[in-house]
Amino acid sequence: MQAKKQIHIEVHFTPNNLDEMALKDKNIIIIDVLRASTSIVTALHHGAKEIIPVSTVENAVKISGSLFGDVTLRAGERNAKMIEGFNLGNSPLEYTEETVKGISIILITTNGSIAIVKGKHAKHLVVAGFVNMRSVLHFFSELESDFMIICAGKENHFCIEDAVCAGRIINELEIEYKTNLVLDDGAIAAAALDRTFGKNILKMMKNSEHGKFLTSIGFGDDLKVCAEIDSMDVLPMLSGNIIRSGKKPAV
Ligand code: MLT
Repeated sequence: MQAKKQIHIEVHFTPNNLDEMALKDKNIIIIDVLRASTSIVTALHHGAKEIIPVSTVENAVKISGSLFGDVTLRAGERNAKMIEGFNLGNSPLEYTEETVKGISIILITTNGSIAIVKGKHAKHLVVAGFVNMRSVLHFFSELESDFMIICAGKENHFCIEDAVCAGRIINELEIEYKTNLVLDDGAIAAAALDRTFGKNILKMMKNSEHGKFLTSIGFGDDLKVCAEIDSMDVLPMLSGNIIRSGKKPAV
């Protein structure tokens, strides 16, 4: 029997030390469980045409000015709250079908959209959270190529919810998909964190720094949405500067 191809995985717990050119032509998964990944997946699941991630509020305003107002929404947060003059914040509960169907969304968030923009020259860039775990696993198990997982973290710091999600992807690929993985130290640590804290995702999120903060400002219900595993079969893929729903993996 032919030995399975080895797949190398690198995990970075913040995008801080990575520059755009280091990510060129790589296969990348970006994770911002609370909440940019989950909001992006939810928006596409509810029929948003596309998401345009940007790294500054000024860019969001500039780009939206050149698009037609009634088919474009400005979305995002500062300190987890909606930005003045914007149409949407960053709560996945806001991205209903009624609000986003057929709409282009320009998204700026403190960590998530910035990490995505950094990967704009990647070969494949996929946005992942717990909510679309299965779609991400199908895609990377079929791709059979080395990849990097970049956690958005929180203002250059480690975030446990992103690390556990990264670890879950690794553990599922190894155990369920029998992928022959070679892990860097970050990947080994993420996989171990999933084995310890991944048993109760909602509890882990409620105890996380950002989870506690979101709860304290009234977004506690978002945690429940972000903690659901495989609730949406969506693969957000960046192409150029735009995220659209990627090819549906064969189930
Ligand atoms: C971010 O990108 O920093 C987050 O998604 C923040 C948030 O919870 O809105």
